[in-house]
Amino acid sequence: MNREKVLEVKDLTVSFRTPNGLVRAVREVTFDLYKGETLAIVGESGSGKSVTTRAIMGILAGNGIIDKGEIKYRNQDLTKLSEANFHKIRGNKIGMIFQDPLSSLNPIMKIGKQITEAMLVNGDRMKNEYRDIYHHEFHDYLNKKTIIKMLHKDIENKVFELSNDDELSRSEKKTILKEYKARKGALIKAANADLPALKTKYKAKQKEAKVIINEKKAVINSEKKEMVAEFRTHLAPLREALTVAKANDKLKQKSVQPQVAGMKQQRDEELSVLKTKNLEVKEQNSQIEDVRARKIASKSTNKEYKLSVKEVKQKYGAMMKPLDETNVAKANLVAKREGIKDQREQFTRKLKVTRLEAYERAISIMDEVGIPESGKRFNQFPFQFSGGMRQRIVIAIALTASPELLICDEPTTALDVTIQGQILKLINDIKLERDLSVIFITHDLGVVANMADRVAVMYAGKIVEYGEAREIFYEPSHPYTWALLSSVPDLDTTAKLLSIAGTPPDMLFPPKGDAFADRNQYAMKIDFEEQPPYFKVSESHYAATWLLHPDAPKVEMPGIINERIQRYKQQAGKDDVRRARQADLKQSEGDQVE
Ligand SMILES: Nc1ncnc2c1ncn2[C@@H]1O[C@H](COP(=O)(O)OP(=O)(O)OP(=O)(O)O)[C@@H](O)[C@H]1O
Ligand SMILES: [Mg+2]
Repeated sequence: MNREKVLEVKDLTVSFRTPNGLVRAVREVTFDLYKGETLAIVGESGSGKSVTTRAIMGILAGNGIIDKGEIKYRNQDLTKLSEANFHKIRGNKIGMIFQDPLSSLNPIMKIGKQITEAMLVNGDRMKNEYRDIYHHEFHDYLNKKTIIKMLHKDIENKVFELSNDDELSRSEKKTILKEYKARKGALIKAANADLPALKTKYKAKQKEAKVIINEKKAVINSEKKEMVAEFRTHLAPLREALTVAKANDKLKQKSVQPQVAGMKQQRDEELSVLKTKNLEVKEQNSQIEDVRARKIASKSTNKEYKLSVKEVKQKYGAMMKPLDETNVAKANLVAKREGIKDQREQFTRKLKVTRLEAYERAISIMDEVGIPESGKRFNQFPFQFSGGMRQRIVIAIALTASPELLICDEPTTALDVTIQGQILKLINDIKLERDLSVIFITHDLGVVANMADRVAVMYAGKIVEYGEAREIFYEPSHPYTWALLSSVPDLDTTAKLLSIAGTPPDMLFPPKGDAFADRNQYAMKIDFEEQPPYFKVSESHYAATWLLHPDAPKVEMPGIINERIQRYKQQAGKDDVRRARQADLKQSEGDQVE
């Protein structure tokens, strides 16, 4: 596999401030994502999957706080980016698809407009280039400002945390807060001192950028002007030629004038011959007994008659009114004008994404995501599409900016099974075609067996097991993963083996030990006292469960899961779960298309 790292999430910890205290939604989540790889994040409802990806996208709810950790996209820490800069990455480099396609679409806007809108809004190429030039310096400045903001927020959080603490006395709280404020205050002061220099630097670079871009624009505009002027010089002679042609045709017309009356008479004679003949054939047709044959015959007779009448009229029309030269001259002029239009469009495209360009790209992306009759569909509203088709539109919108990372948050949960298979296949195809990195979120392990390269299993805000897909499916090591595997609908019978007993812990009060202990039938004393570290199962496979501790009693996974794994393996033929699932996909491909 290509080992180019796209995303690096390290120790990501997210809480939500609520009236009851801090909800610890995501706790020290760490994972990498490589180019062209699909990482599946799997876990029950509430395990923190969406919060993790929302933090990556920078769209946490207002009461959400990133307490700790890094989210590095191509080495740039997204947690330190300001809103404005985040905006550039979100949707541009990282696209996201949500569970409910309707909620991501505007119900009263034609879908074509929804697809092209983002392209047009962000389509000022010169402006983008301008920003790119001073991007670094500007970011350095903004990042420093964000750091200051975060330090202030830290103090706010501390105040909040202390106010919720019942164990400390007032004076203890005061001392702690004072010390904390002093420590953070010093950092804020130092950061503030750096600001003016950073500002001067970015302003200077911005000025430089303006000069460069203005020059570039001037060159393009003057080239455009030259082009248009050059075309105009061709237009004048063409216009002249048209005048001459018109005059010539007029002369010709004059010359045929004396014969026109004769021609008219001749034409009418020919027409009347046709008419008589037509009546005769019609009469013959009416004799045909078979109703169908009669209908067919009369239809073709009518058609023939109309055609021959047209031919005669055209013939005499051309003789009486000879406009041939004019027509040719006109066509030449129109072609030249079209040429100018084309050239203009090409020049404008250097400056910005044009409407025509956006339309062309939208149609091609609609074709790519399998929306039939894209030209017609372009002008329809979301309600005119089925659920599966809407999800395809949402995918199309996510693709317009050509992201290199696509986050899919349960994109098929709202769809029925056949359509689900089609959308999964589509996401997989697009991923391969565009060499995308994909984070695929689901609560159903079965869904990702055919498409994930690696799997991270989440429970109560933590990743409890991660590894290559085959490792998770063949050698699951965490009892929670066993439970998830057992709740995958059976491959043949579609029956669920087991459901997971109990409920996840309340994340207002995360348990001291292993969060899964309460529901774990193999839990030991230590599970209730201490959080397990990650134990290495293989170079690429880790699980956080005390069961893997060398001193833990040897626990066999439930036989029923073992059976299931054996079946997966059997199905996979040569020990390859992905190939087996591929076959499933092929089958669903043949299923009825919506
Ligand atoms: N704005 C918020 N305020 C308070 N708590 C929140 C907020 N958003 C999410 N949470 C909590 O964070 C935890 C993780 O939620 P998250 O949405 O990530 O779950 P999930 O794994 O995506 O579940 P699902 O499968 O239901 O989508 C849950 O306990 C949830 O209640
Ligand atoms: Mg969710």
